[in-house]
Amino acid sequence: MPVAVNQPRPRVKARRRRKNNGESPRKTITMTSSAGGLVIRKERKKDFRAVENLVREAFWNRYIPGCSEHLVLHNLRKHADFIPELDLVAEMDGKMAGQIAFSRGAIRDDRGEEKKVISFGPVSVLPEFQTQGVGSALIRHALSLARDMGHTAACIYGDPRYYSRFGFRCAEKYDIRTSDGKFAAALLALELRPGALRGAPGRFIESGAFAIDEAELMKFDARFPPKDKAETESQREFMTLVSLRY
Ligand SMILES: CC(C)(COP(=O)(O)OP(=O)(O)OC[C@H]1O[C@@H](n2cnc3c(N)ncnc32)[C@H](O)[C@@H]1OP(=O)(O)O)[C@@H](O)C(=O)NCCC(=O)NCCS
Repeated sequence: MPVAVNQPRPRVKARRRRKNNGESPRKTITMTSSAGGLVIRKERKKDFRAVENLVREAFWNRYIPGCSEHLVLHNLRKHADFIPELDLVAEMDGKMAGQIAFSRGAIRDDRGEEKKVISFGPVSVLPEFQTQGVGSALIRHALSLARDMGHTAACIYGDPRYYSRFGFRCAEKYDIRTSDGKFAAALLALELRPGALRGAPGRFIESGAFAIDEAELMKFDARFPPKDKAETESQREFMTLVSLRY
């Protein structure tokens, strides 16, 4: 997926906040970068609409004409698999710049036994704030919180060229397949505790919260400002990535 690189990569330095509206220091961190001041904190109810709009702006026409990820997030927040402690937003100089949300999933072996894993998505950064380190800061901070919470492994669908920098590897390394039993280039896995995925082959079963009903999507999307759907190069690149299954 092409991303414009028009700014030098900032060095972001995390500094824990002592006090922030009652949030614990571990939940809210501030960062300084050449692009400005970045705050990562938990999403609040009053952020929901702005965050859904941000997700829509970031994903629009990226993987399909239009997008569905704003509805995915809307539904995920109400789903039993949602992990509220890892529902984070990033603000850049007070403006909503990015978000990440996590869900529970599982690796199911041939006998039907399941090992719990976590997954994230959507993760997004408003286009005007992309390639400034916001996405990386969100992902690194969220994975560190997840580790502290005792989660041992994560599986995601994503582009290995981006997620390998966080330690994700092709899930084939751990003998983990898609729910329909294939290895896939876009299925990635990360041990949050060393060895957690050793000897745990199986199929990655992601949360049912990701299932989208087209009629519901149309109705939901109509609540946002009109946007034109288009075919893009990033969609063609994405189709190539998802076709890499064997
Ligand atoms: C993916 C996304 C969250 C990354 O956030 P970001 O703040 O732009 O990323 P960062 O600034 O931390 O990292 C930028 C780097 O990642 C690279 N990058 C971003 N997305 C990438 C991708 N899909 N594939 C490969 N590299 C990617 C950039 O080229 C840049 O590389 P560099 O460090 O070598 O310069 C953001 O681009 C986004 O919202 N994209 C649209 C929604 C989306 O695709 N979400 C992820 C779905 S799996």
